[in-house]
Amino acid sequence: MHILVTGVAGFIGFHVAQALLARGETVIGVDNLNDYYDPALKHARLAQLTGQKGFSFQPVELADRDAVDALLVPASGVTHIIHLAAQAGVRYSLQNPHAYISANIVAQINLLEAVRRLPGLVHFVYASSSSVYGHAEKAPFAVTDRTDRPLSLYAATKKADELFHYTYAHLYRIPATGLRFFTVYGPWGRPDMAAFLFTKAILAGEPIRLFNGGDMRRDFTYIDDIVAGVLATLDHPPADTGEAPPHRVYNLGHNHPEKLTDFVAILEEALGRKAVLDLQPMQPGDVYETAADITESRRDLGFSPTTPLSVGLPKFIAWYREFYRV
Ligand SMILES: NC(=O)c1ccc[n+]([C@@H]2O[C@H](COP(=O)([O-])OP(=O)(O)OC[C@H]3O[C@@H](n4cnc5c(N)ncnc54)[C@H](O)[C@@H]3O)[C@@H](O)[C@H]2O)c1
Repeated sequence: MHILVTGVAGFIGFHVAQALLARGETVIGVDNLNDYYDPALKHARLAQLTGQKGFSFQPVELADRDAVDALLVPASGVTHIIHLAAQAGVRYSLQNPHAYISANIVAQINLLEAVRRLPGLVHFVYASSSSVYGHAEKAPFAVTDRTDRPLSLYAATKKADELFHYTYAHLYRIPATGLRFFTVYGPWGRPDMAAFLFTKAILAGEPIRLFNGGDMRRDFTYIDDIVAGVLATLDHPPADTGEAPPHRVYNLGHNHPEKLTDFVAILEEALGRKAVLDLQPMQPGDVYETAADITESRRDLGFSPTTPLSVGLPKFIAWYREFYRV
């Protein structure tokens, strides 16, 4: 396989690339190394990949149509795509909506259009998000539940990506699978997410902000479980029977939502320090609970997440302390 991994310097892209290289695949990694969060962390992830057999990197801005066309020429030999580059984050989409249109809409269409001209693409796997469930009527969220009531522009762009892929699978038979990730955490994680923000604040003796007074539940999913799900997806492209478009969507989540306050308690124990709590009201765009129904991913992909917070969070903290020498 020749696999294009977009967002390879990002949290999930980095781990996915590591796993692909470990099984002997050829990985062409791309990223624009933007400064949404500290680019030094992105460079450090990239440094781990650079020099490994089968890995190459190209600094590409995916919202640049010409750059994407130049990347995905037939001579590139790309047989699979794992598209993880995006403008992530729910709250930031209130501040900088245009970043989401560029990274999540324009870039996605650039890739889909380039792929139309790429012979022999076996499978296009792309990241969606649990946020597409928006105003959910029930939990856990099933892939067949309504996803037409997004609560943030981020969620709306992720839903749009699913629709674009359906259309391209229908019109041009591009086999694709969308993965709705549920709150991923782990070593080399994202600085704008709870594990990272809270760890940093607790170590500095600063308050941590808990929205909705801490009364929230998240289906926190450990990175190794997500990577296993992404690779299993890659290996199971949807069959094209000539009838329904070759496009599917799966939930990848731990299937075991935990209270934000329990999350904090595990962090406190692993860090050996008490958190100072700053209880805040519910934020616009946030949801009270996320919970993945993984019936289909378990059945079709053998997806079987195994890592509880009590195991995963201490691994994150061990990495954090070593990386930042604190
Ligand atoms: N981490 C989670 O909990 C989570 C949950 C749901 C969905 N997702 C989705 O999974 C994917 C990966 O998320 P992540 O947590 O690794 O985020 P991340 O921000 O760490 O990684 C995304 C990478 O994409 C790159 N990128 C952004 N825009 C780009 C562009 N226009 N051109 C080229 N590169 C660009 C960034 O520089 C970054 O390195 C994203 O699509 C995200 O929306 C993540």
